[in-house]
Amino acid sequence: MAQRFADLSPPAPAPDPDADWSLPGWLYTDAEYFAVECDRVIRPSWQIVCHESDLPNPGDWRTIEYLGESLVVLRGDDGALRAFHNVCRHRAMRLVEGNAGCARKLVCPYHAWTYGLDGRLSGVPMKRDYPALRLEDNGLAPVEIDRWRGFVFVRLEDGGPSVADMMAPYDHEIAPYRFEDMRRLSDVRLRERAVNWKNVGDNYSDNLHIPVAHEGLTRLFGKSYAIEAEPFVDKMSGQLVDRPSADPWERFYQTHLPRVDHLPEANQRLWLYYKLWPNMAFDIYADQIDFMQWLPLTPTTSVLREMTFALPDDRRVMKLVRYANWRINRTVNAEDTWLIERVQQGMASRSYAVGPIGASEVCLRSFARKIRERIPEARLHHAPAAGWSRYPHRSA
Ligand code: FES
Ligand SMILES: [Fe+2]
Repeated sequence: MAQRFADLSPPAPAPDPDADWSLPGWLYTDAEYFAVECDRVIRPSWQIVCHESDLPNPGDWRTIEYLGESLVVLRGDDGALRAFHNVCRHRAMRLVEGNAGCARKLVCPYHAWTYGLDGRLSGVPMKRDYPALRLEDNGLAPVEIDRWRGFVFVRLEDGGPSVADMMAPYDHEIAPYRFEDMRRLSDVRLRERAVNWKNVGDNYSDNLHIPVAHEGLTRLFGKSYAIEAEPFVDKMSGQLVDRPSADPWERFYQTHLPRVDHLPEANQRLWLYYKLWPNMAFDIYADQIDFMQWLPLTPTTSVLREMTFALPDDRRVMKLVRYANWRINRTVNAEDTWLIERVQQGMASRSYAVGPIGASEVCLRSFARKIRERIPEARLHHAPAAGWSRYPHRSA
């Protein structure tokens, strides 16, 4: 019987001929490819907006901007969270401006069309001027919303799993951190980088550069830095070493990191990093977490969007430890920025096509495979003739 079932099972997928190679350099600079990637990779993927506690009351709203779209997440009178395009249905004016606010209704600053917190169009000045206008057909354009462990996500197009499904392989590891009960330590930070968005993520996934380029991280985590890849989430982790670092802030963090009662013993000095497909991550320490995402702006520029969260803890030592953590991360970020900006310049060289990916670099492999699945032209070592995305047969 076992043999008969084996015969019915689908054939194993053919090995990917490009599995041992990186994505080619032209994918990091080409405008036509960039447009295809935004459509097929970024638009259907979840983007984190904020934490539910950032929107405690009816009328509270938060925005996120990417791919030329502005989206607003609103808390309704019924307590529900909804997401909409921040675009008036009359003449396309932005309804709200800025990162966050609170409003009883959304009143358009151009001609005062008014929308309820559920997105319905409730008022139009000079309504008789538009005899055919039906208010019920002109509510704000809705956007899909998801919630996972207290965080709020949106996506521009349907496609792929929920955030909970993506995180499922590691949900049990994250549960003790009590993300749901966390509160914001700092507001959203936006930092522009002169790199393609994939270059930011590649660097976070790249384990081989840690001992070469991050002296501080190596002092703090030694050889314990580990990576693994699941279908829609990568994991990186490390154990804080006890041997005191020569750097004062690193040493302070090592020696003063206080016990946190909500975490098991094994997590007290553990660093965890979960990178979700395709462009966001949770960076988790015993003292605090941040989310970070890297949003494409142009083929060669991106913006890093970050917020920090923690469980309330008034201990003075915790405040200092969180500050030390921030100092250490600032140095790591500066080191990575220096690296990725130079990689970006190299990707633009006509001399560069692809590079090898080591067998241990499972996260880079997983990312490249998913890009190739969605955009077959990503296998080509050089850019096809312009117009390939409109006439796909020309690049085959
Ligand atoms: S554009 Fe919003 S009311 Fe006219
Ligand atoms: Fe790095």
